[in-house]
Amino acid sequence: MLGFRDESRGNNPGMSDLMKATPEDDFEALSQYLAGLQIDAYLGHGR
Ligand code: HEM
Repeated sequence: MLGFRDESRGNNPGMSDLMKATPEDDFEALSQYLAGLQIDAYLGHGR
């Protein structure tokens, strides 16, 4: 997300727009939320 924000990652300009519009303070919560969505795969459970 930070990569899209600073354009070091540029394969999707829309993602860059979105991440630039996302307040810096929201990144921590957002990344924790996204990591939480992958917890079943991480623990080896199917979905
Ligand atoms: C709140 C909304 C969103 C969040 C938090 C988000 C988050 C992310 C993250 C974390 C990645 C990096 C994934 C990785 O490196 O494995 C990513 C990549 C990407 N996102 Fe989003 N995204 C959002 C919305 C969108 C939308 C609306 C679109 C397009 C309609 C989009 C298109 C993409 C694309 C094309 C990539 C690159 C995938 C790749 O390189 O394999 N994202 N996004």
